[in-house]
Amino acid sequence: MEGAWSACERRVSVKALMDCARAQYLLASALDGMAEAQRDNRLLSRAITAYLQLLKNNERLSDTKLVMVANRAIDRIKFRGVYLNAEPIYRLLIRRFPNEVYYRNNLTVCFLMANRVDLAEEVLKETLRLWPDDRVALGHYGFILKNTHNKHEEAVEYLQRALEHESGPANEPRFYYHLGDALLLLGRLKEAEEVHKRGAALGHFLSPSQRSLYNVDRLKGRPWWPIEDTPYVQLARALEKSWREILKEALAAKALYEKEKEGLSEKGWSQLDLFVRGQEIPGRCKTAPVTCSIVRSEPAAAGCRRGQVKFSAMEAATRVRPHVGPTNCRLRMHLGLSNTQNTFIRVDKEIRQWEVGKVFIFDDSFEHEVWHNGTSPRLVLIVDVWHPDLTAKERRSLPAI
Ligand code: OGA
Ligand code: MN
Repeated sequence: MEGAWSACERRVSVKALMDCARAQYLLASALDGMAEAQRDNRLLSRAITAYLQLLKNNERLSDTKLVMVANRAIDRIKFRGVYLNAEPIYRLLIRRFPNEVYYRNNLTVCFLMANRVDLAEEVLKETLRLWPDDRVALGHYGFILKNTHNKHEEAVEYLQRALEHESGPANEPRFYYHLGDALLLLGRLKEAEEVHKRGAALGHFLSPSQRSLYNVDRLKGRPWWPIEDTPYVQLARALEKSWREILKEALAAKALYEKEKEGLSEKGWSQLDLFVRGQEIPGRCKTAPVTCSIVRSEPAAAGCRRGQVKFSAMEAATRVRPHVGPTNCRLRMHLGLSNTQNTFIRVDKEIRQWEVGKVFIFDDSFEHEVWHNGTSPRLVLIVDVWHPDLTAKERRSLPAI
């Protein structure tokens, strides 16, 4: 209670207490407390191991104690980002409380966080066998049908059932987001619009067209930003002034481009990251020194932990379907570099065109889409910058995306 964690750890770590549940609990708590006080991840890992050990050896803990220890252990495991370590704890909770669907759903989420869709799907199948109408399970199953199996019609059915009622634990922004997105994919635009309106009315989206999920609510939301209305005039002008050198760097690095991975276009779209989450990809600036030095002159760009700096190349006859970015905390600058004729971008309701050597700024948390109707590959440089309304503290402390 006095926070004398290391003294406690020494006392309870003695051999004679090895089989004592209470000593094991104190050991885990002491390590946990020390880890927190010293912000030390190695201690935290030891605390997690101690919690896991305690739970493994003590299936007989009372319900209340078990839940208390399990919740703390799971919380620490999530904080540390080692999601799969939570599996045995959830299995234990499911064994102890077989009639609670809650723990099964949390195990599903845990597997999804760990990028183990296969394991999540196994849990979901069992959950839906036992609780065919559980909305949270229906929602997750719909999500997997859409994102992993490309079964959009079935996904819509599951997600619609998940969202039949506008309250309860399935009433979540991400289910509205994926239902709307699946409907867009199917070209069922009217229905998508209805879902987006409903989601916005329930406060899940900033507006029907601004559907990012990681938001700071008070930020001004505006699809297109005149450069002069932002603090990034200098950056924009510097990029425009050097566009020829930037284009050279974009072309010289051609072999490093990677196909866009989110399935927003079927083919023809590739990108080369320079900065991601406010950090240079190690060594990458050697291939684009001029571009990087201009970006570095603006900390809100080089340090934008909720964005990227990248070259974006698009083959002729490519279409990028309507989509939104993950967060309203950034604005997106595009510098046109080559072959921008007959290429179009719609952000919310307004369609514009790139121009070689010119910057425009939009907010990609609003729905946007792109058509390349030209005949040669188009290149642009994308530079994300912090939304101007964010405080210095928020720029330091918001979790990266
Ligand atoms: C974006 C986007 C398409 C492109 O910057 O968010 O969708 O043309 N860009 O690179
Ligand atoms: Mn986009």
